[in-house]
Amino acid sequence: MSRLNIRNVLSNDLDCVCKIESLCFPAAEAASKKAFEERISVFPKGFFVAELDNEIIGFINGGVTNDIHIEDDFFKTMDLHIPDGDNIVIFGLDIHPDYQRKGYAKELMSHFIEDAKKSGRKKVLLTCKEHLIKYYEQFGYVNEGVSSSEHGGAKWYDMYLTV
Ligand SMILES: CC(C)(COP(=O)(O)OP(=O)(O)OC[C@H]1O[C@@H](n2cnc3c(N)ncnc32)[C@H](O)[C@@H]1OP(=O)(O)O)[C@@H](O)C(=O)NCCC(=O)NCCS
Repeated sequence: MSRLNIRNVLSNDLDCVCKIESLCFPAAEAASKKAFEERISVFPKGFFVAELDNEIIGFINGGVTNDIHIEDDFFKTMDLHIPDGDNIVIFGLDIHPDYQRKGYAKELMSHFIEDAKKSGRKKVLLTCKEHLIKYYEQFGYVNEGVSSSEHGGAKWYDMYLTV
């Protein structure tokens, strides 16, 4: 079985990333091509792709803030990104449907958390749907309950991990 290779995003990964996002999220929740373009150009250090045999099968990406919860506007613009801020927000964790339930998201998340530690962040923040709360608790994330987020019209939960 091929080993997963995790690396920082490159500008020419944009189309692959957008394709996987469209397979993983309904249109109302999926990040736009413009949002990905901005995230890749502003903060590639917080954007990791996972490859099997040189093909991208998933990714995780974020931005930095001094807030303790994620503002919905942060999903749309990197204007809120504070490079030397305390906390790193996860905008998305996506694994191509053909490659799910093989532990690849776990590898990406562990890599992201390690990088957050090395970068001196205090917390990793994310919002997720109810069915994923248990999954994130395995990494040590704490559920803070229903989020004020109205992203994509869905119900989200705020979670944080102290690193
Ligand atoms: C959520 C998501 C990222 C998980 O990706 P994944 O690679 O399937 O995640 P993992 O393989 O690490 O774990 C998923 C499940 O597979 C199980 N699993 C892990 N390795 C496995 C293996 N080798 N064989 C069978 N199951 C396995 C895990 O135990 C976990 O089970 P659980 O949910 O009951 O705890 C993926 O389903 C996805 O992209 N969904 C759509 C987008 C989304 O909702 N993203 C999260 C936004 S907050």
